[in-house]
Amino acid sequence: MIRISGLVKRFGGLEAVKKLDLHVPAGEIFGFLGPNGAGKTTTVKLLCGLLKPTEGSLSVAGFDVGSRTLEAKRSLGLVPDEPFVYPKLSGAEYLRFIGELYGVPLPEQRRRIPELLEMFELGRWGGELVESYSHGMRQKLVIAGVLLHQPKVLLLDEPMVGLDPKSARMAKEILLTLSKRGTTIFMCTHILEIAEKLCHRIGIMIAGSLVALGTLPELRAQASREGSDLEDVFLSLTGGTEYAALLKNL
Ligand SMILES: Nc1ncnc2c1ncn2[C@@H]1O[C@H](COP(=O)(O)OP(=O)(O)OP(=O)(O)O)[C@@H](O)[C@H]1O
Ligand SMILES: [Mg+2]
Repeated sequence: MIRISGLVKRFGGLEAVKKLDLHVPAGEIFGFLGPNGAGKTTTVKLLCGLLKPTEGSLSVAGFDVGSRTLEAKRSLGLVPDEPFVYPKLSGAEYLRFIGELYGVPLPEQRRRIPELLEMFELGRWGGELVESYSHGMRQKLVIAGVLLHQPKVLLLDEPMVGLDPKSARMAKEILLTLSKRGTTIFMCTHILEIAEKLCHRIGIMIAGSLVALGTLPELRAQASREGSDLEDVFLSLTGGTEYAALLKNL
């Protein structure tokens, strides 16, 4: 469903993504992990055609992102790291706008928009302008937007940031249900507990290179950390355990 081949992205002298090869099959929840600045968001932007690759190719739902951009974009839904929503639209208007953009039939919009607003406890805010929404409310509205048009592939960049515990639980249950129905989910996250519980496979990127890829037991074996949790595996693979010396400067 997602295929990335020989992907390189350079920003001037900086190689943000270095020869990335990755295949995510239909129905998989793939967790994309890595320290700040590793190249995760860059990869997501390349997948949805917001950035052009320096080298290599990407395809979504069988459509090459470079040459069949529109079909690829129609097949995917993006929840970006910053929830951008036009501030002068109400929540319900934003969802109608998304519905029109993706050609969701009007009767379906009329039925599903109130349901989605209710699902994220935004029901009584549906008529209010987005400029009055909190960060978490905007995040939930953007998630509701991608659920409205039911894409084959969901790209989520830190989707749980700002969500209260109940909404985060709801989002997790939604992702599991969608994956069981065949939706492919590609999610960047720093919340290792979510990756551990939700993701079928995990990829860890460091400075533009994929250094580990597999199920949690496979990653444990790779890091020689049998039986340990993902935090231990992540820190051992990313060399993040030498903070004691740095704390001396506090
Ligand atoms: N538009 C840009 N112009 C120049 N450099 C960029 C641009 N976008 C990203 N970069 C650089 O590419 C590298 C990867 O950034 P990216 O945003 O993909 O990281 P990330 O893995 O998503 O990090 P985080 O966990 O902090 O979200 C960083 O060094 C960043 O400074
Ligand atoms: Mg990022």
